[in-house]
Amino acid sequence: MKFVKRIVLPFITSISLLSAPAALAKDYKMALGDAAGGTQWELGTKFAELLDEKSKGKLKVNLFPNGQLGNEQDTVNNASLGLLDFSVLAINNVTPFSPTVGLLTMPYVILSPEEAKSLTQGKIGEELVKNTVRDANVRIVGWAYSGFRVLTNSKRPIKSLKDLKGLVIRVPRNEIMMSTYQAWGVNPTPMAWSETFTGLQLGVVDGQDNPYITIDAMKFNEVQKYVTNIRYIFSIEPLIVSESVFQSQKPEVQAMILEAGKEATEHSYKFLLESEEKIKRSLIAKGMEIHTPVNAEKEWIDLAKKKVWPKFYDSIGGKAKLDEALATLGRKAH
Ligand code: MLT
Repeated sequence: MKFVKRIVLPFITSISLLSAPAALAKDYKMALGDAAGGTQWELGTKFAELLDEKSKGKLKVNLFPNGQLGNEQDTVNNASLGLLDFSVLAINNVTPFSPTVGLLTMPYVILSPEEAKSLTQGKIGEELVKNTVRDANVRIVGWAYSGFRVLTNSKRPIKSLKDLKGLVIRVPRNEIMMSTYQAWGVNPTPMAWSETFTGLQLGVVDGQDNPYITIDAMKFNEVQKYVTNIRYIFSIEPLIVSESVFQSQKPEVQAMILEAGKEATEHSYKFLLESEEKIKRSLIAKGMEIHTPVNAEKEWIDLAKKKVWPKFYDSIGGKAKLDEALATLGRKAH
């Protein structure tokens, strides 16, 4: 009798470990640089809901908004080391770790939400996903589309580059964005995203740029009055998973993560189209003034293309890569 027990019990236990759905159970952590309510939050919560649904409640994702798990660039480092599962952050904060994604922040390359979608979901997007795995040990599994980054400041209306001179503008630690402001004649101040609200509030910096939805989620209207409707960068915010964490999952879990990421990406696109205009109107109602650059932004566009594009050909994979992106978008090589 004793003998049977000893054999049967381990046998039963090992069968249940292999086959029980409980073996899938896991609680993941997801960092968000922004506050709840913006495009990062929409993508993250949708992804969490889908993963929960697909795994029949076994896979949970807990969201930590507002930079609680570190500033956006730190979250790439932590995910790269396998210390963090997921993060949603602006693509410009991935570029320092995987320079070819800089293609998506080259000024005036993406000119509409449709173009953002077609670049990220086509052949070029697939290549960028592979490159970030190779360079940074993180995998992009979804994209949030956040709208054009508009310029805000607390001092005065800006309609031309002349008006911009003398203002202290915060930028992320991103070479392409810093060079763009330099091309426009100002020396910007690089500052982590998590420090930006306080920097604006204390007057360490006068202005910054981010999409309407982000300005609203971060309550920047409380510390900024003037908006200039520039369209130099369309903000794209990837959902990344640590490649070490991803590779340690069972194939069925990997498939659920990829599917949930894809479906959450579609949701993010719809959310942008449905809510950006509404949010813009609510910012006006809260006291923000919106200005449009004179001459359809021509002086801003000409300087950025002439001075910034050639400087970053090498880091994004060569001039041919930019031409390929433009061709994908139905525009001529430059
Ligand atoms: C930044 O400006 O650093 C980011 O684009 C902010 C964000 O992630 O929303």
